Amino acid sequence: MLKCSPFETGRDLHSPNRNLSPVTTAVDEEGRLVVGQCLLSDLAEQYGTPLYVLDETTLRASCVAYREALEKYYPAPSLALYASKANSTLAICNLIASEGLGLDAVSEGELLTALKAGVPSKHVVLHGNNKSDEELMLGYRNGVTIVIDNHHDIDRLEALIPSGGAPVRLMLRFTPGIECHTHEYIKTGHLDSKFGFDPDQLEDVLIRLKYLEWASLKGIHAHIGSQIFELEPHRDLAAVMADALELARGLGHDVEDVNVGGGLGIRYIHSDDPPSIDSWVQVVSLAIKEACLARNLALPRLLCEPGRSLVAPAGLTLYRIGSRKVIPGVRTYISVDGGMSDNPRPITYQSSYTFYLADRPLSYREEKVTIAGKHCESGDVLIKDYMLPCSKSGDVLVVFATGAYNASMGSNYNRIPRPAGVIVKDGRADLFQRREEPEDLLQYDLIPDRFIALG
Ligand code: LLP
Repeated sequence: MLKCSPFETGRDLHSPNRNLSPVTTAVDEEGRLVVGQCLLSDLAEQYGTPLYVLDETTLRASCVAYREALEKYYPAPSLALYASKANSTLAICNLIASEGLGLDAVSEGELLTALKAGVPSKHVVLHGNNKSDEELMLGYRNGVTIVIDNHHDIDRLEALIPSGGAPVRLMLRFTPGIECHTHEYIKTGHLDSKFGFDPDQLEDVLIRLKYLEWASLKGIHAHIGSQIFELEPHRDLAAVMADALELARGLGHDVEDVNVGGGLGIRYIHSDDPPSIDSWVQVVSLAIKEACLARNLALPRLLCEPGRSLVAPAGLTLYRIGSRKVIPGVRTYISVDGGMSDNPRPITYQSSYTFYLADRPLSYREEKVTIAGKHCESGDVLIKDYMLPCSKSGDVLVVFATGAYNASMGSNYNRIPRPAGVIVKDGRADLFQRREEPEDLLQYDLIPDRFIALG
């Protein structure tokens, strides 16, 4: 057992999304950063860098926070489904399912991962605005709920499901027409969106589904966006969902589930102040309950689909600092051994993160640096003009809150292999994703026979 004292950002066990770092973050007697009782610079040494580290305690605490809040505030059945696009690996899906959560998948890959990880198929929903036949059939054969996003989904299922085949459990997605203040690219609830039916089309599609033998409409779904700090849009969403529920039930559909999507934000930098998981669930639960009571509707099962707020705070990335370029009077660049291939969020959304030196987290931040990645792209910068303690080549740099939409959106740009992932708890670290090797990247390449043999 390492002798440690808590580190300032690891505070709120009940709502990890309000912490900058995993809830187990601490410093050892020499002032070095420790997570899950593992010294971060030791992990970098042992597993290499860049390295994704996941804190099991934080991830479980996030799951428990959703589960307990739903039980506390919503008087009918409920289920949180992990939006696995945030980070889809066997170990993460397995761990989340072991906490009693379900899962949302949007592709064959995510669906396979969930099923192989042991997520019960009755707790899985399949999303997607352009599902392939293979995706639809994998979902159908495994009895997962399929979210109908458009008429094409219905046409394909109509063509694929054999006559007399088992009915398929469906959920209907529509755009609720709710704006919220998040990055332009991640708004999905407003009307000009590629996802879901327009509210004007709802009645027609509900009528169409009535006449299809294989279709068993059991839920309605909407998602308004991601990294949202306001509670009001979710309150507004409840009334829109209740109207849709009333319409669907009025047309004779036995709709049991209302799925309000995900979207709760997390703290990436000190000034971020997201609501807690508890407050978010409270607002959503009460709003759905009241909207249903006002319309005299029996309470549906309440589903939600958190992604970021479940996994982001549990994750961190370790890099090793390499070269330094000083442009006098302009800027000092320090470069790390990863960048936009393992974390494309800064270049994609101009998102900010919080950085520490693994072995000197508390040292005075006396130098302004721009932390660059190693990719051949000027924009491959993790953060610009950032105050850090004086650093040197070889130091390990820690970036907190990278558990969501980093690995899952990563790439092999410049043929850079993907990092390994380790999950830590009580001083133990286990690999949950092996590091890719450069040779792995060649395995799908072919040289056509008709090319001239060289050498
Ligand atoms: N449900 C649906 C239908 C979604 O489209 C999403 C996210 C979620 C749930 C989960 O939302 P969350 O709880 O994670 O906010 N790549 C962007 C985020 C894209 C979110 C896409 N949909 C980013 O890195 O910020």
